[in-house]
Amino acid sequence: MPSAVNKPDVFPSLTPEIILSFQFSSWYPKFASLSIKSTVIRPLTRDFLDYLDADGVFMPEGAEDIPAESTLSDEEDGSGYESDSEDEEHRKFSFPELDAKIREAVSRYGAVFPKLNFSSPRDAAWMLPASSPLKCVSPADVYLLLKSSDFVQHDLNLGHVFDGCESAPRIYDLELVLRKWYPVDRSRELRCFVRQEKLLGISQRDPNYYDFWNESGTQIKVLDSVKTFWENNIKGKWPEAGGDYVFDFLLTRDLSRGHIIDFNPYAPRTDPLLFTYEDLHDLLFVRGDDYTPQPELRVVDSPSHPAATRNAPAHQHNMVPLEALTISSGRGVQDFAGALRDEIRRSMQDDSDDD
Ligand SMILES: Nc1ncnc2c1ncn2[C@@H]1O[C@H](COP(=O)(O)OP(=O)(O)OP(=O)(O)O)[C@@H](O)[C@H]1O
Ligand SMILES: [Mg+2]
Repeated sequence: MPSAVNKPDVFPSLTPEIILSFQFSSWYPKFASLSIKSTVIRPLTRDFLDYLDADGVFMPEGAEDIPAESTLSDEEDGSGYESDSEDEEHRKFSFPELDAKIREAVSRYGAVFPKLNFSSPRDAAWMLPASSPLKCVSPADVYLLLKSSDFVQHDLNLGHVFDGCESAPRIYDLELVLRKWYPVDRSRELRCFVRQEKLLGISQRDPNYYDFWNESGTQIKVLDSVKTFWENNIKGKWPEAGGDYVFDFLLTRDLSRGHIIDFNPYAPRTDPLLFTYEDLHDLLFVRGDDYTPQPELRVVDSPSHPAATRNAPAHQHNMVPLEALTISSGRGVQDFAGALRDEIRRSMQDDSDDD
């Protein structure tokens, strides 16, 4: 048993360099053959940052067939409140070069899944049809998701990105990542926690209950598949982060292999899902240094599991922009999202008629 003196903290210390090693463009080149095909657009223009930063959900000109802008902004809530910056309110954006790069990626991949350096707009998935979450086939789809998401805002804010670091980064450039879109089967997604190059825990990623996770042999097989994949492909390849990282993994249908979806810092910002970081700390500490532990696998093992019964829709807090309440009455989420999209397009049309 290791002595208390050697006991590591629950979280490893963070530096800007460690955080930056988890941005997409840093890790992807090393693991591209084990992950999803992706294109990184970097750096982005100052104008595009201003657009992402601006209030309201509206389209740049030229992002779809109708070359116009919508101004469905936070200010237009019927309260008579006027924006204190006319320039800001009427500023028009257009990104023809970026539009062209997005269209190129769409034609190369069929459809794209967008994210920024670290975060995807998964809290805005409800904006596009539920049958194909986060599937983008036009620049307008990409912009709609990015503008509707609180999660991607994390990547714009240096205070958030480097939260927990003692010093500031030397350089941080925003990037747009366009990944080939796949109909991901969420039941086969796992999140795997590695501390000091020990694979400690593996958690089901989707909080829903799936029968097959209780089938005899499934858990043993999956543990073996993940461990083998990790040992052969990932272990020892994270010296930048001192061997502390969390990776997201999508198992193949036969559960024998898989693909890397993402890497995340071993830090409070990364959701520990069915673990707590204290649980993981115990797994590291209790089992000691010279013993190679079998990782612990946690799944939602019954429909009454607390994770499965927290049945509020995911990211509910971000589902209803204030300005949209007036068109929401009595509709299901999908109807409502469709109505909101129509509303954004309608105001784009109105604006172009005004011009
Ligand atoms: N290329 C893709 N095509 C379709 N769906 C995808 C793709 N990549 C990821 N997804 C889905 O979107 C979810 C979120 O993706 P990802 O892990 O990249 O986002 P994230 O913002 O890094 O999430 P987190 O904040 O949990 O780390 C995944 O769990 C997966 O279900
Ligand atoms: Mg991630």
